Amino acid sequence: MRSPKDFFAPLAVGAPQPVRQIPVRPSRMIHFFDPGNEKMAAKIPSLTGTVDVLLGNLEDAVRADRKEAARAGLVSVARATDFGRTQLWTRVNSLDSPWVLDDLLTLVTEIGDKLDVIMVPKVEGAQDIHYVDRLLAQLEARAGLTEPLLVHAILETASGVANVEEIAGASPRMQGISLGPADLAASRRMKTTRVGGGHPGYLVRTDPAGEDLNSGRSTYQQDLWHYTVARMVDACAMHGILPYYGPFGDIRDVVACEDQFRNAFLLGCVGAWSLHPVQIDIAKKVFSPAPSDVAWARRVIAEMGDGTGAVMIDGKMQDDASVKQCRVVVELADELAA
Ligand code: GLV
Ligand code: MG
Repeated sequence: MRSPKDFFAPLAVGAPQPVRQIPVRPSRMIHFFDPGNEKMAAKIPSLTGTVDVLLGNLEDAVRADRKEAARAGLVSVARATDFGRTQLWTRVNSLDSPWVLDDLLTLVTEIGDKLDVIMVPKVEGAQDIHYVDRLLAQLEARAGLTEPLLVHAILETASGVANVEEIAGASPRMQGISLGPADLAASRRMKTTRVGGGHPGYLVRTDPAGEDLNSGRSTYQQDLWHYTVARMVDACAMHGILPYYGPFGDIRDVVACEDQFRNAFLLGCVGAWSLHPVQIDIAKKVFSPAPSDVAWARRVIAEMGDGTGAVMIDGKMQDDASVKQCRVVVELADELAA
């Protein structure tokens, strides 16, 4: 795992990217489980190696009277499991809750050496990340940990969105940001009720054809989350951290889930949450570049030689910028194959 110290190392002369880059381990799906649910916790060993990230959830969806059980369950699962290449993350309770202090104290002390990333919900601004950063530094020192824990923020309040750039750059521990559409909808007073999905009432209508306003008109559903995802992607790219789509709650609607995840992938996200095993494969498929796209990208890079100038390939103009676009696809394919 990277160390925050790496971020302060001078860039090599001629380094192709001016922003710091996180050494990437795949995180196409962040698979949520309730560690206080014995049935779910028992399945965790069988998921290691299959999913990129397993996340023990302590926050919403865990009842108030099950918080301690979830925390204790996560400690047991983490101690008993060899995660191999799969990362272990947790989502702690929000910073204004009565549970978060014990979450951080217990988890860092007991299983800090097994955890990769701590997801912090309802982040409002850089001050929330600074608080977690300082607390983690104290707890890590006390526990004698040698690897720093990374922090992931959920973007799920209106003020979090307004401050997303400062959140992304708030600490060298920042690993990434996820869209949290359910809480965000509530915070903004949006009228959606389907977690992470669209709404049939949010439409764009084509212009009327001729005099008859009703003839030849069609409607298309719009993506309610486009603005926030695009803004989050820019903030993450600016600070060299990773953007993620969050949850898609309608488990049976696998088509809409795939569409929503794919829109996020095409806009620059590297992964999404999976709330049910059926969403693991959807995320794996969507967030891995298609072999035909990888082959095309390799061809463009090869035909562009030193990467400067312009060439025509199958009638399409390619230049220096195309090579950069193609490198994004090829590097992702290589990382996933490694
Ligand atoms: C996730 O936590 C959400 O609120 O969508
Ligand atoms: Mg939430």
